[in-house]
Amino acid sequence: MASEEMVVTPWEVAGEIDYSKLIEQFGTQQLTDRLLEELRKYTGELHIQLRRKIFFSHRDLDWLLEKYRMGEKFVLYTGRGPSGNVHLGHVIPWIFTKHLQDKFDAKLYFQLTDDEKFLVSQNLTIKDTLRLTYDNALDVLATGFDVKKTFLISNVRNVQTLYKVAVEVAKHVTYSTAKAVFGFKESSNIGIIFFPAMQAAPCFLESAISGRNVPCLIPAAIDQDPYWRITRDVAPKLNYYKPAQIHCKFLPGLGKGGKMSSSMPETCIFTTDDPDVAAGKIMNAYTGGRATVEEQRRLGANPYACPIYYYEMFLFEQDDVKLAEIENRCRSGDLLCGEHKASLAPKVVRFLMEHQKRREKAKDVVSECFIDPCDKELQTSLGLEMF
Ligand code: TYM
Repeated sequence: MASEEMVVTPWEVAGEIDYSKLIEQFGTQQLTDRLLEELRKYTGELHIQLRRKIFFSHRDLDWLLEKYRMGEKFVLYTGRGPSGNVHLGHVIPWIFTKHLQDKFDAKLYFQLTDDEKFLVSQNLTIKDTLRLTYDNALDVLATGFDVKKTFLISNVRNVQTLYKVAVEVAKHVTYSTAKAVFGFKESSNIGIIFFPAMQAAPCFLESAISGRNVPCLIPAAIDQDPYWRITRDVAPKLNYYKPAQIHCKFLPGLGKGGKMSSSMPETCIFTTDDPDVAAGKIMNAYTGGRATVEEQRRLGANPYACPIYYYEMFLFEQDDVKLAEIENRCRSGDLLCGEHKASLAPKVVRFLMEHQKRREKAKDVVSECFIDPCDKELQTSLGLEMF
């Protein structure tokens, strides 16, 4: 079998991922200890996703914190492409975004790209992606965002709020740039060629609405970075600040290698999974263990090749001392894979049960969290009033 080449794009993540190489390839900056120290001044103890270097890279985070220090508040922006059920991987950057919202008392724009997922899918209708927008929005709110400061955007339903900014962006992106960045082909439909302007637009929305420049920070996995490269090139041409980013790594799937991806549902834990079914998936997962118990006792296992260990690290074991213990027991052969799975499964069950309860509650408020298409004040501030 040919060795799998690393591919990281918004639509495909494959091969063994070398995050240091990605920093180089994408031209981003490593999240240094000095910068983490700077963040700690505002957040107190660092979030586990920072302590464990799950968020590992950034663009202009130092600039954004300096602006904040000088009294300029920033908005947060993140999103979801509603192509199916939400899985645990998607929730990782949202949990961190909620932490930032709490600590910096920040407004959040959350985009649901029902246009994108219709345009790239072979089988989803617009009706399907709109239904999934509603469904996935329940997961967004179940993450715990402050509903008073969180503004959901359905690209299809709320297009009139985004479109003005999107066409301003689009005018400054040539087809050849979009093709080079996203790999568009002659056969690509023209909808998806315009789409990057739609994903860029929320970066500038707060500035467009308020009539003054407002810094924007985007927490997301690094697969979304190509969008921000284009957006950052355009920003000065529109007299906006360049949006800042903070990038996370990928939660792996339950199989051998690769990120958690809905295209392999058996290796995914969906937030809507029956908790018992999810526990079964954990028990059937691939691990970094040895072929036999005897070998594992003698040689130990490799936690860094093991999704079960990564689930503890990304989400389920919050205590650093206990996580280090798990790692040591894994490496020494003291902890067998079956035992480890059996201790992770109830944590996953608890997480899902709690998330699903909050998801149900979100049904009462979700429609109010979408940007209101009839909000006259909003339309006027964007210069969209009738002449
Ligand atoms: P989507 O739906 O592919 O992914 C939603 C968010 O989840 C991140 N992500 C992961 N993070 C950790 N581990 C994984 N295995 C994993 N898989 C996905 C993605 O990086 C993303 O943050 N086009 C976008 C939607 C979008 C968006 C945005 C995302 C619109 N505006 C602004 C981030 C920021 C999409 O389809 O995301």
